[in-house]
Amino acid sequence: MSDPSKAVTYDELGFVGKIRIDNPPVNALNREVRTGMAEALTQATANPRVKVVLITSAGSMFSAGADLKEFDGQLAGPSLQQLQETIEMAPVPVVAAISGLALGGGLELALACHYRLAHKSAKLGLPEITLGIVPGAGGTQRLPRLIGSRAALEMILSGAPITAADAKSKGLVDEVIEGDLHDSAIKFCKQLVHDGGGPRPTRDLTVPDRLDESVISEALGAHARALRGRTTQTLVVEAVKAATLPFAQGIAVEAAIANKSLASRESLALRHVFFAERESGKVEAVPERSTQPEIERVAIVGAGTMGNGIAMAFADAGRSVTLIDNDEAALTRSRDIIRSNYASSVKRGRIRQETVDERTSRISGSTKLSAVSSADIAIEAVFEDMDLKKRVLSDLDSLFPSERLIATNTSTLSITELGRATAHPGRVLGLHFFVPAHASKLLEIVRGKETSSDTIATALHVAKVLKKIAVVSGDGFGFIGNRMMLDGYFREAEQLLLEGASPQQVDAALEQFGFAMGPQRVSDLGGNDVGTKVRLQLYKRESRPDPYFVIADRLTELGRLGQKTGRGFYRYQDGGRDALPDPEVEKLIETLARERGIARRKIGDEEIVERCILALINVGALVLEEGIASRASDVDVVWTSGYGFPRHLGGPMFYADTLGLAHVARRIWHYQEKLGPYWRPAGLLEKLAGENSSFEQWDRQRKRAIPTPAA
Ligand code: COA
Repeated sequence: MSDPSKAVTYDELGFVGKIRIDNPPVNALNREVRTGMAEALTQATANPRVKVVLITSAGSMFSAGADLKEFDGQLAGPSLQQLQETIEMAPVPVVAAISGLALGGGLELALACHYRLAHKSAKLGLPEITLGIVPGAGGTQRLPRLIGSRAALEMILSGAPITAADAKSKGLVDEVIEGDLHDSAIKFCKQLVHDGGGPRPTRDLTVPDRLDESVISEALGAHARALRGRTTQTLVVEAVKAATLPFAQGIAVEAAIANKSLASRESLALRHVFFAERESGKVEAVPERSTQPEIERVAIVGAGTMGNGIAMAFADAGRSVTLIDNDEAALTRSRDIIRSNYASSVKRGRIRQETVDERTSRISGSTKLSAVSSADIAIEAVFEDMDLKKRVLSDLDSLFPSERLIATNTSTLSITELGRATAHPGRVLGLHFFVPAHASKLLEIVRGKETSSDTIATALHVAKVLKKIAVVSGDGFGFIGNRMMLDGYFREAEQLLLEGASPQQVDAALEQFGFAMGPQRVSDLGGNDVGTKVRLQLYKRESRPDPYFVIADRLTELGRLGQKTGRGFYRYQDGGRDALPDPEVEKLIETLARERGIARRKIGDEEIVERCILALINVGALVLEEGIASRASDVDVVWTSGYGFPRHLGGPMFYADTLGLAHVARRIWHYQEKLGPYWRPAGLLEKLAGENSSFEQWDRQRKRAIPTPAA
């Protein structure tokens, strides 16, 4: 009999030997699973009564693949490759029954089986490229044998899973199962034995096509945007090419390439971000709950741009929304805007009209604040004005049951002060949604001084409902992201303009570094007036010495608001998006520099990138030191998911670690000597550099410092 506490169970149903992977939450193929499977296979093949082996899974997915946590240490127990060898060479047929997801090593395990069945809702993929890894358990060798090199290359380069139906049409699975997978799989196994179907090793198949240069460049071209600045794709091509070699040779080539990819900086960075994104939702001193409060109905106050976007985000997540605004006309406008936003998604083929109809039917409008009372949470999204927001929050507080969460959507105002405008500041927090609120990935959850842990726990749950990546921030100037952008990255970019660089040079240098868009183009896109307004609010919290965004603010004064007015840091012709240099802006910058006695000179691209990134890192260290962010990895998540920092460089703090903190501190001192006292390393950065430590180590030590409850 099988032992249900094990990661793998083995049962015999007549002549079918059934191996079941049961390793929640994602059936990762860790040491226990591999060992359990090896033992089960030995047991099955040693029993002459067993004529066929079925591999299946408990839970909602077949397997998310190799256990990523094992990648950094010495691998113990049988390897996945050894296990696959046993499966492929088994004397009886081995059948994989795939439900949910079969990803990475999970799919590679199935590729080594002799037959594959997939439930119609299953998805199959090799997402390793998103982690900077080349599939290393036969994926690059067996997949081309089953579906051809060209299709395999496409699947591995895209990293996106395909549906069961698509897998069937490509020849990746033998049958798609509509009904109960388990019963159908047992039936399939019995029929197979009845028909005399034997083992069918994938390695014995011949690859039907070769990759010629035109196919390779077409495939790389199709993913060029997603893979900008990356290197894994070149390794993928090399590995898939090797599939036409005899299997033993090809698999050896794959192993060498996969190991190389695993050791690459790119992969370390991408894996860091993967775990950082999952870690950011876990917060010290916030209670882990066995059940979460219901978030079925949401009230949003303020039918402006943010309110509309937030309403769409909740409707997309299947929740009912009441959008409240005392201006009837604003509600009508909002309905039209939401409809037109959805219509453009339909036009682009992203969603179907029925889905839109269903989502819009979940959003209703009201002019009465009392409509809030039936909601599970309330989000205030009125104009960014302290007094107005205080009034709305105070009214909400009196109308809304006192145990429910009230969030304020702000990017600048003090959550502590806003909370104190209510009688229950413990239930008030900030939700900093990014534009567009329904599509952006990041959500900053801002904790005021009095915000309770329970309220934070609810907000983290809300982020999960919205499928957004949440980071908890303290209540300071610009929270985590905008503080680092304004005091660090963008400020330095402006400084470089004053000292002699041109907007196009600064943007090009940072785009070359890996940002999708340089800072000046970002400002023009978002609107220079928007930045000016944000800063004016922030100055009410803290002032900043001149020069601080003197160029952007002057552009706002001149009505050069960016793309929307056809002129900003650049010129835009006929409503187009191409940023053209503008001599007028050059003159304006010269004047502003002269007024401040700043001598202009020719500046190299290297200096531009170094100064902008060092400034970003340094403010990141300040944000950590002040407790605004609690983990360096949280800062990395904010910057990679919300501000376009290249993911394959791991985020600013991870990138600082790869440069070495002693080097980072040395370069900051160098700029202090050259440019003056505003260049000063943060205390935390100096301390870690002096100890030859890193932000990663700092994060780890802090984790250890959290008391572990007794068992
Ligand atoms: N190895 C180890 N742990 C893994 C894992 C893997 N391959 N895949 C997921 N996990 C862990 C996550 O870290 C998370 O752990 P936590 O609860 O301690 O934070 C947990 O499993 C759940 O994952 P999560 O991503 O939060 O759940 P989800 O339902 O949103 O997504 C997946 C599930 C499988 C789609 C997603 O986790 C994923 O893409 N995993 C990586 C798959 C992959 O790249 N496989 C190839 C490996 S070479």
